Amino acid sequence: MVTGARLTTSVERCPIVAEKNFVLATREVGYRSLGHAIAELVDNSIQATSRHIQIFLFAGDTEPVFALLDDGRGMDIQTLRTALQFGGTDRFNDRSGLGRFGMGLPSSSMSQARRLEVYSWQRAGHVNHSYLDVDEIVAGRLREIPMTRRTNLPSWMQSKVSHTGTLVVWQRCDKISGDQIATESRRLRTQLGQIFRYFIWEGTHITVNGCRVQGVDPLYCNRRSPLSGATAYGTPLVYKIRLPHNPDKISTVRVRFSELPVAEWQGIPIQEKRRLGIVKGAGVSLVRAHREIAYGWYFLGEKRRENYDDWWRCEISFGPELDEYFHPTHTKQEIHPGAELEAALTPDLEALARTLNFRVRASFSKLRSSRQSATGKLVSTRDKYLPPLREEASSTHIQTRRKTVGRLKYSLSVRPLQEDAFYSVRRENETLELILNKDHAFFELIYAPLCQKNSPQIRAAIDCLLFALLRTEAEATSGVQRYWYNRKRKVWSNILATFLGS
Ligand SMILES: Nc1ncnc2c1ncn2[C@@H]1O[C@H](COP(=O)(O)OP(=O)(O)O)[C@@H](O)[C@H]1O
Ligand SMILES: [Mg+2]
Repeated sequence: MVTGARLTTSVERCPIVAEKNFVLATREVGYRSLGHAIAELVDNSIQATSRHIQIFLFAGDTEPVFALLDDGRGMDIQTLRTALQFGGTDRFNDRSGLGRFGMGLPSSSMSQARRLEVYSWQRAGHVNHSYLDVDEIVAGRLREIPMTRRTNLPSWMQSKVSHTGTLVVWQRCDKISGDQIATESRRLRTQLGQIFRYFIWEGTHITVNGCRVQGVDPLYCNRRSPLSGATAYGTPLVYKIRLPHNPDKISTVRVRFSELPVAEWQGIPIQEKRRLGIVKGAGVSLVRAHREIAYGWYFLGEKRRENYDDWWRCEISFGPELDEYFHPTHTKQEIHPGAELEAALTPDLEALARTLNFRVRASFSKLRSSRQSATGKLVSTRDKYLPPLREEASSTHIQTRRKTVGRLKYSLSVRPLQEDAFYSVRRENETLELILNKDHAFFELIYAPLCQKNSPQIRAAIDCLLFALLRTEAEATSGVQRYWYNRKRKVWSNILATFLGS
């Protein structure tokens, strides 16, 4: 006889999935970030042939609210209910696109929010709606996907909607901090820009709180990326691989590498390098069906990651038909490659990674030994004809002592600057650096064409002109003077840009 424990009789309902616990467990499914969860929704919009995807993140009454509006084909009422089911899909194990398991919509949504609402329409004004609500499921009040109901879009949705489309809303986003909305929106633009770069470059339009998402190339080669200027290293490697279930067919894996311009970018301030993804950005981007599916230290064998590895990048592209080799996780954030694939790719990739690391080291040491250009050195020797530069050695509220600076070193570098000025100045003890703004019309229309003229005299003369500006600004000894130069530099840079017609 059994006492104590309650016996489950054969007539009691015993579903394969214990839904309350299951839903709570999927909340911890482990999306690495909000961006990775939202990417699941963007996948669905892209697969539904959307061209415009608008993302909104705002503070709700109590917790943040997230919404994604697309102009895709929309869903009929049966598809809409299936879409909310865990595992519900009309493309299970499909290998032609982004979705595969029918888990993306419900599990990404539940990982961030306590309520998921989906509105979808296939004719203007005929909006159907259904939802999932964690608290109702846990309380036992929601045991089936609710029947769809005809409704209007929420009143806060002010955007103009297309005649077909879908609106996904995450209410009660308890995993997103209300104070972090501005930071999150900025981070989202970068993450989604990188994950969906190929779609964006091909014309898919994504916005986050009204700001357009730009395609971000982690290899820094594509000129439409916010920062570009890296160069491809060698020709791409191409591996022909037999399809796992159809050995007569072959699919290709493409691998390409890039080298970042050490000389031009090494002087970018560290916070800026971090923001631009240069620092701590070492790794390999895995792209499946044009969508980045993982980013990390893959196929590099015994090679350990070092700081120098920030200065080269790699991208591996493959099709979903090779999933059995790459084993992407169903949350599309990682891969677990099989031994066969490792054996094919790793020896080549590891060898190239070591070569690139060596080249980066060589660039840094060359740079250290020749920081000053020939003109920089010349100017430095002629500096002695000028009154010596003085600087504040110490100051009290009573008096300021000045000391003479030793022989100055001059250097010039080119890189994009955040500010409007066509150059900026940096001073480190006795070294004066002039940084030309690569994004300003002065560089594009004056400096670069002059350099291309292949006339070393003109180039040297214009560098002297710039060094003269630098030297003049370096004479500023007080904060007020420095402020004045900063301001005026911006003003006259703007006037110059206007006159140059940019
Ligand atoms: N924005 C959307 N537009 C049209 N259909 C969608 C949209 N989002 C989801 N769906 C439908 O919901 C289903 C389930 O989506 P999801 O859970 O992400 O799984 P999967 O993408 O693997 O099929 C999709 O197969 C699709 O039919
Ligand atoms: Mg999906």
